[in-house]
Amino acid sequence: MPLVERLFWRGQIGIGKVMVPNPAILAPMSGITDAPFRRLAAALGAGLVVSEMTASAALAQGAPEARLRAEGKGLRMHVVQLAGCEPRCPARQVTGRQSGSALMRDLDHALTLIEATVGAVSVPVTLKMRLGWDDRSINAPELAHRAQAAGVRLITVHGRTRSQFYDGRADWAAVRAVKERIAIPVVVNGDIATYADAVTALAASGADAVMIGRAARGRPWLPGQIGRYLASGTRETPPPLSAQFALVHRLYDEMLSHHGLAMGRRHARKHLGWALDAAAETAGAPDALLKANRVRVLTADDPTAVRRHLAEAYANFASIAAANGASAWSQTTRQTYRGGERKAA
Ligand SMILES: Cc1cc2nc3c(=O)[nH]c(=O)nc-3n(C[C@H](O)[C@H](O)[C@H](O)COP(=O)(O)O)c2cc1C
Repeated sequence: MPLVERLFWRGQIGIGKVMVPNPAILAPMSGITDAPFRRLAAALGAGLVVSEMTASAALAQGAPEARLRAEGKGLRMHVVQLAGCEPRCPARQVTGRQSGSALMRDLDHALTLIEATVGAVSVPVTLKMRLGWDDRSINAPELAHRAQAAGVRLITVHGRTRSQFYDGRADWAAVRAVKERIAIPVVVNGDIATYADAVTALAASGADAVMIGRAARGRPWLPGQIGRYLASGTRETPPPLSAQFALVHRLYDEMLSHHGLAMGRRHARKHLGWALDAAAETAGAPDALLKANRVRVLTADDPTAVRRHLAEAYANFASIAAANGASAWSQTTRQTYRGGERKAA
């Protein structure tokens, strides 16, 4: 195994008594990481998956939408992200907690919420934060230190300030100051899309694991592949188109049954678009073909028509892949992910 791979894997990560099998975590993304997507990413090997942000008050009141967001059915291990601004008791099944990044302007208040959560649940509590509010107030190390003292068991840091929003590149090296202040596991997050990104982010930050958000859209297999790579050095290519088709088909069906037909169709549409983007990339399909298939799939309303157009789209991409020299539906592409190794080189 190459040296870098041995250097960056430190064995299993413990969140309190809960062991995480590999160091790649699917990020919480509102409107994206719903229960069907989390189940798929977990089934494909993500070390851990995190729910969409859920309002703690709504969850405590049993609001149906909040319960749907926090659903852990079919998941062996599950983190529910709570957001709230009052230190009231959260529901007992909750295993994670995060604060909106506005709380980075008021650490005392953040601590009251953290202490209330830790005191209310018997499961390990985790915290996700940015580096600080802006570059004049980088207080993630202080917040992490105080959160650890309050009983938090794992901390994730997105290497940007709140004021940056998504501008610039995530500063993985800045996460090292958090790692050096605390003894509990640290997860580095922001702009991690390839094997090389994961290795570089871990090296720069000294963190124990990576969290992957936007790069997993349309690629539910990505956290699992990166996790296996970090754990064992296995470098996999994206799944063949036939497998990608089966995955998107399953996601679509699960979204319709999870959200109900009307909402499910709406939720699923953006996932279908991202899945088609990923498939076109795997096949090396030209933009015009992607665009034509996207329009057909995304403008269809009736699920039967959507499934038919999806099947046609993947068959079209498979023909391109075959013409490009691979054996269509069972091809294994040598391609790396978008921006892949070129970006990291
Ligand atoms: C559409 C979208 C929704 C998000 N929703 C949440 C959320 O509910 N809670 C949270 O802590 N972070 C949320 N994030 C931030 C991500 O978890 C992650 O920190 C950020 O996208 C950086 O990681 P990435 O570069 O891998 O995407 C969201 C990001 C996106 C793009």
